[in-house]
Amino acid sequence: MSIPPAHSETLRALFSDRHSRITILTGAGISAESGIPTFRGPEGYWSIGSKVYMPQEMATHEMFQQRPEAVWSWYLYRLGVCLQARPNPGHLALAQLEQRLGDRFILITQNIDNLHLTAGNTLARTYQIHGNINYTRCSGGACPDLLPLPQELRRQRDDSQLSQAELRLLRCPGCGDWLRPHVLWFDEYYDEAHFYLDSSVSRAHETDLLLIVGTSGATTLPNIITMTVLNAGKTIMDLNIEENAFSAPARQSEGGGFIQGSAAQLLPELLALCPGAD
Ligand code: APR
Repeated sequence: MSIPPAHSETLRALFSDRHSRITILTGAGISAESGIPTFRGPEGYWSIGSKVYMPQEMATHEMFQQRPEAVWSWYLYRLGVCLQARPNPGHLALAQLEQRLGDRFILITQNIDNLHLTAGNTLARTYQIHGNINYTRCSGGACPDLLPLPQELRRQRDDSQLSQAELRLLRCPGCGDWLRPHVLWFDEYYDEAHFYLDSSVSRAHETDLLLIVGTSGATTLPNIITMTVLNAGKTIMDLNIEENAFSAPARQSEGGGFIQGSAAQLLPELLALCPGAD
């Protein structure tokens, strides 16, 4: 599957107009071809003892309060998977797209895997609306800084057991309380300070194109962004291997639509529609 001619023309025109603003919204699908399992696929599950939990149960403040060590085991296992992964042609195309579009470009990502930044997208133009698994912060809330996860914990894991030494590294150096992963949990709310809520909504109001890549459309802020762009009468393109919650709004939008295919295949094609070097 490739980008249909009518959508190619729309994209080419938007990229070529030096006043148009381009916003990309990505989800787990773009990292699937780098070997990171999507959330709602079968690999998302996790066992504690004999009980199997879904990500929607593990990734909660409630679970962290009850079982902090078990939640950390899960995140450090997932970090190990992320550390093995490399950006794929989809990520690399988006990094090139930012280079070509400069200030006209913003990337909003739900992924916590850091692969967009590794590929070359800049932190200034990347809103990580669900956080970044490489960072922690104090769970008590009194110590506000983000801290990089200690180097000793950054490794691939075969099992989930954490040693006493590892557990000690997961304490806040300021107050001794548990550190927590710097991610947005299912029972928490978006805010600006950590998760770019206001910046993302403002951007949705002013963008000319919203390009959605590899997300099922199950989370709140991406839905607000999409409906804002639709109501503003602007263009939405939805790139995904299958139909999802954003396919219908994309089709309803001005000149927009659903484009079926994999991110690693479609995004280099899309980059070729944008004027620039090479
Ligand atoms: N190319 C494009 N799309 C793909 C590919 C691919 N190679 N592989 C999978 N997809 C699509 C799937 O069809 C699906 O629509 O990616 C989407 C993945 O959906 P989810 O697993 O629900 O991931 P996502 O939408 O990113 O989840 C959003 O929910 O669990 C929370 O915070 C978590 O950030 C996550 C959020």
